[in-house]
Amino acid sequence: MRKRILTGDRTTGRLHLGHYIGSLQNRVRLQDEYETFILLADVQALTTHFDKPELINESIYDVAIDNLSVGLDPEKATLVQQSQVSAIAELTVFYSMLVSVNALRHNPTIKTEAKQYGYDDLSYGFLGYPVSQAADITFCNADLVPVGDDQLPHMEQARKIVRRFNDLYGETIKIPKELLSKTPRLAGLDGNSKMGKSLGNAIYLSDDENTVIDKVKSALTDTHRIAISDKGNPDLCMVSQYQKSFNAEEYDNICEMCRAADIGCVACKKVLYTKLNEILAPIRERRTFYENRKEAVREMIVTGTMKANEIGAETMQKVKHAMKIAL
Ligand code: TRP
Repeated sequence: MRKRILTGDRTTGRLHLGHYIGSLQNRVRLQDEYETFILLADVQALTTHFDKPELINESIYDVAIDNLSVGLDPEKATLVQQSQVSAIAELTVFYSMLVSVNALRHNPTIKTEAKQYGYDDLSYGFLGYPVSQAADITFCNADLVPVGDDQLPHMEQARKIVRRFNDLYGETIKIPKELLSKTPRLAGLDGNSKMGKSLGNAIYLSDDENTVIDKVKSALTDTHRIAISDKGNPDLCMVSQYQKSFNAEEYDNICEMCRAADIGCVACKKVLYTKLNEILAPIRERRTFYENRKEAVREMIVTGTMKANEIGAETMQKVKHAMKIAL
């Protein structure tokens, strides 16, 4: 049997270049080799956006189309709506017995996100989303999970849960493994260490050419470089980091020119936004294709979710049997 990939995106808005670098590229690259499941994580979206049902609904389509537009082939990859897979909800409940509240409270990603969302009083659902994510990954016994490095604590947590489950009830569930991107995490052009939907510093896969140009133009460069004749330090410049991630061939050369004041920030930014728009052009084209076929996209999600439910039902039979709660 072919090995499985499962990964997912919260449906809290459109996907951006950080997702592209962190996970989407790997999904596209591996879809021929692995049976691929893409989870439209609407339950996880509710943990922070429970008061925005319209946004979540719209984002289910947006995120599906983002995945298709970067080149996931609907013939190969299965799109799954998380809230409609009952095995995920059931597994979350069973797993919740195997995780301590303290482990969740000390999860570094939970801590960072709690700060980011301004929570000083965490909801039970938000605190517990890593448990639900462990259920996402294991309902289909995924082997490999392409994710950004911010998801590592959740992967560790998932493995701990699975090991504990297997120790207690017998070998039932596969231990999942992450697949990290070779490219380092994409910082925000504003200098924030992460590009994020909620941080307001993202370049979206769906941004048009001019929006990309404007965003790159406003990026943080070496603030010590005031006149064009000043020598620059690419280590202090966000544009340089992006050149490294998206324009690797020219990166060394550009850095050298910057250090020698042979290229100014305006010209350097132009190189970058031209490159980004070149990368985004075929993505925009596929987006238009799918945006004109929304009903077909809906059907892909419905069919994919049905398939996920069949797999989930099999898993739950094994799980309940192992836990001796099957009658
Ligand atoms: N937490 C992930 C993110 O914020 C999204 C996600 C939900 C996910 N379920 C998943 C990732 C399962 C991998 C596997 O990007």
